[in-house]
Amino acid sequence: MNKAPIETPYFGPKGTPMGDGRINARSAVKNGAAIYDCIAAYLPERGTVLELASGTGQHIAQLATRHPRINWQPSDVIDERMASINAWREHAGAKNLLAPILLDACGDWHEQLPDDIGLIHLANLFHVISKDAAQNVIRGAADALTQGGYFFVYGPFRVGGEFRSQSDAGFHASLTRKHHAVGYKDLEWMQHQMAAAGLEFCNLHDMPANNLVLVACKGCAPRIS
Ligand SMILES: C[S@@+](CC[C@H](N)C(=O)[O-])C[C@H]1O[C@@H](n2cnc3c(N)ncnc32)[C@H](O)[C@@H]1O
Repeated sequence: MNKAPIETPYFGPKGTPMGDGRINARSAVKNGAAIYDCIAAYLPERGTVLELASGTGQHIAQLATRHPRINWQPSDVIDERMASINAWREHAGAKNLLAPILLDACGDWHEQLPDDIGLIHLANLFHVISKDAAQNVIRGAADALTQGGYFFVYGPFRVGGEFRSQSDAGFHASLTRKHHAVGYKDLEWMQHQMAAAGLEFCNLHDMPANNLVLVACKGCAPRIS
């Protein structure tokens, strides 16, 4: 359960060591504020938010500090990520930021989790995994969420079969050169997989740098239009 799937050739994020165990990823700093503003409308009052593929741990440290009534559970499939996540956790000093867990989001993962997960946050994973693995992530999220919970997915996607910029097309090509099975997913394919897993697609947010946020809900009418 805790080993990296072999089809994932790119494990990022790349970042700068800060001397105290924290890794600082430039992309997380650049894109973080827009994600934190967007996610706020979907957060549960209380309970747990699970973050998949936490990477450096920067996003969840920021979010836990902003929303102290929620328990924030970081996770990643790579053992070495735990050091940076723990260091960001210590730096944040937020009691509601739980110790990170090793979790393969593409595997059979939901059984080890609490039963009050009102939102699952995931940034920048779908383009580095295969379609089969992505289906597993979506099914796992649908299983793990409580009724009325949200799956909040941030990252780069194709829309209508088109890349949203030249640099997206280039990045996708660089990923598929490393492994043919990975690369950008189509928005429409994501929506179809979410529906197949029993999630209701409820919102699409345009984000800076041509990224998107896809929001799907488990068994609820959308709160936001
Ligand atoms: C591009 S980084 C994104 C990190 C962070 N979410 C962010 O946006 O800054 C991708 C992350 O996905 C993690 N990852 C890759 N495959 C995974 C899997 N099967 N389950 C959980 N995490 C995975 C990697 O270890 C890495 O931390």
